[in-house]
Amino acid sequence: MSAEPRALITGASAGLGAEFARQLASKGKDLVLVARRLEPMQELAAELTDEFNVAIDIIQADLSKTDATARLFAEVNDRGMTVDYLINNAGAVGPDLLTERDWPEQQAYIELMMTSVAGMCHHFIPPMQSRGFGRVLNVASVAGHVSLAGDTSYGPTKAYLIALSKGLAATVRPQGVYVLALCPGFTHTEFHQSPELTRMKSRSPTILWYDAEVVVHEGLAALEKGKTVYISGRLYRYLVPVLKSRIGAWLMTRMGVKRDY
Ligand SMILES: NC(=O)c1ccc[n+]([C@@H]2O[C@H](COP(=O)([O-])OP(=O)(O)OC[C@H]3O[C@@H](n4cnc5c(N)ncnc54)[C@H](OP(=O)(O)O)[C@@H]3O)[C@@H](O)[C@H]2O)c1
Repeated sequence: MSAEPRALITGASAGLGAEFARQLASKGKDLVLVARRLEPMQELAAELTDEFNVAIDIIQADLSKTDATARLFAEVNDRGMTVDYLINNAGAVGPDLLTERDWPEQQAYIELMMTSVAGMCHHFIPPMQSRGFGRVLNVASVAGHVSLAGDTSYGPTKAYLIALSKGLAATVRPQGVYVLALCPGFTHTEFHQSPELTRMKSRSPTILWYDAEVVVHEGLAALEKGKTVYISGRLYRYLVPVLKSRIGAWLMTRMGVKRDY
């Protein structure tokens, strides 16, 4: 096993997480892959080890469980690994806060989207501060910049990640730790597989959709430059101010992203 510090990526079994793994491995970085589904991570690990000759550990974890991040940190330590790149990427579409009545499900969603990211930062950033080097990338979203009627869960959790990243970045920068909130717009991954989101995808202009490769490439470059909040995709950098306006709300309604009550 390599003693080199590793990049730990949550949500590494699909989409952006798998792409973070690919691009970091291509730079020679040893990895720790984290998600619930083992098989896709095993396939990815075999492929990347073959192609880039890097060491890859896999840890199965459900980040919607309260004790998941403490267990994960303990497991990383037990395996004798240190982490200098932390990519908090795991995420999902969640239950509507008002119309869906299962509160434990709501809590599990909040745990995954917000508390687990805070937990990962709580456990993994102090050792980075002590070593004088660290890189933390929290995958937020354009949705974290825009408040829309009907989005009472996903967007607000991403707004928290943006605020958390800004606070952390300002705090730990003097110790050589950079923290970035990466805010992608629509990206081709497994994220939009529900019938509702598949319909939304088919109605929205293709120009709004980016490949995971581009988003991850821009994100890692922004992280190295020490940026704190970065909207990936030039189009979205122009669009975000528009989306915050009335015209933006109207456009989103037309695309079916904003639900009407
Ligand atoms: N795609 C987009 O348009 C878009 C836009 C902006 C931001 N984002 C954000 O990008 C991040 C990655 O999403 P994606 O687009 O790559 O979606 P994806 O293809 O659906 O991948 C989501 C990843 O998160 C993991 N995950 C979900 N629930 C988990 C749990 N309870 N515990 C551990 N891991 C869990 C999944 O792994 P398992 O199912 O194996 O656990 C999977 O690896 C998310 O934070 C998402 O909010 C996506």
